[in-house]
Amino acid sequence: MRFRHLLTLISVGLIVSTTIYLPFIRTTCPPTGLSLRELAVLNNTKVGAAVGVSYLRFEPLYQETLKIEFNSVTDEWSMKWDVIHPNKDSYAFTDADFIVDFAVRNGMAVRGHSLVWHEALPDWLTDYNWTRDELLTILHEHITTLVEHYKGKVYAWDVVNEALNTDGSLRSTIWLDTIGPEYIDLAFQWAHEADPDAILFYNDFGIETAGPKQDALIELLRGLLQRGIPVHGAGLQMHSSNTSPPPAQLATAIERISNLGLQVQVTEMDVQIYDDVGTFEEKLQRQADQYRGALQVCLDNPACTGVTLWGFTDAHSWVYWLLGHSYPEEAPLIFDPDYQPKPAYFAMTKVLGERYCQLQP
Ligand code: G3I
Repeated sequence: MRFRHLLTLISVGLIVSTTIYLPFIRTTCPPTGLSLRELAVLNNTKVGAAVGVSYLRFEPLYQETLKIEFNSVTDEWSMKWDVIHPNKDSYAFTDADFIVDFAVRNGMAVRGHSLVWHEALPDWLTDYNWTRDELLTILHEHITTLVEHYKGKVYAWDVVNEALNTDGSLRSTIWLDTIGPEYIDLAFQWAHEADPDAILFYNDFGIETAGPKQDALIELLRGLLQRGIPVHGAGLQMHSSNTSPPPAQLATAIERISNLGLQVQVTEMDVQIYDDVGTFEEKLQRQADQYRGALQVCLDNPACTGVTLWGFTDAHSWVYWLLGHSYPEEAPLIFDPDYQPKPAYFAMTKVLGERYCQLQP
């Protein structure tokens, strides 16, 4: 009798597993009717989006599009000091937890962003003249508290964000000025102690193209590695325009970082069209070329483990309120304000479909 039960269980298991996975194993080439997320999974990569908690809470179409089209999320603002650590001795996890719990419920990876930055800092931190030891204690506690809180849910952290100036020097911030350059080493060490399984990134903009800032990035990463600091990757933000950076330059940046034995991710991609010329349709085509080029370049280098967009619908983008432009003169993302896919979306699905088929035996 027990043997028959076992046989029944095995056969049910086989039916269920093949039913679920069969479509993925024998999809057509090029694949048709698959979402960006499904195509990302078929290519064993991550296509993610930054998520605004107020949009996720109150906009059903935002929620639906996010979980259908992306397999990774980054919290756009509610993991930052001004939101999550509003008073010296209290933390506010509610908003960030809402995003993380949504992602976990929907089988999405979560990138933590960001543990140490010079912006989005609360007044209690910036309005007081801390000693070096006091600020070290505050920073250590902040990093440990956040990373332990999200242990097992956040697979990767942007540990230090935007520490470099355009000329390659270290940016003058409360962290550098009060603690000294070793704040970077310590931040990575403390994050690693809090969650040894998390992948730890240095994240910045303007490092996608050749120049002193990219050179300084390579030296910063090389120094961390030489000192035995647990750094695992670099995040290239890729806040782009229709003309810059050219995908070939991104490929070189990825190559230089991967030559150090590190991972690379595109972490905050959007493509501004405001200062481009031509018709709206022509601008959207060139925008699609930018998204296609960046994704292709990432797929071409095994060290590049994901592409995250900084938002996904033109209904919500930081560029509108920061730069004061409005839709459709500006339209930086891959879905329009009505959540209709734009040429950039189809360019990305095409690249993923073609690469999947190239890899089939
Ligand atoms: O949603 C609240 C709203 O309820 C409130 O009334 C309003 C006024 O306080 O604030 C709103 O939240 C704002 C949020 O953006 C949504 O607009 C926050 O104050 C504001 O600080 C937040 O700005 C974010 C910024 O980082 C600072 O955290 C942007 O969304 C976000 O796109 C931007 O992202 C950065 C990356 O972290 C690093 N790389 C550059 C990138 C763009 O600046």
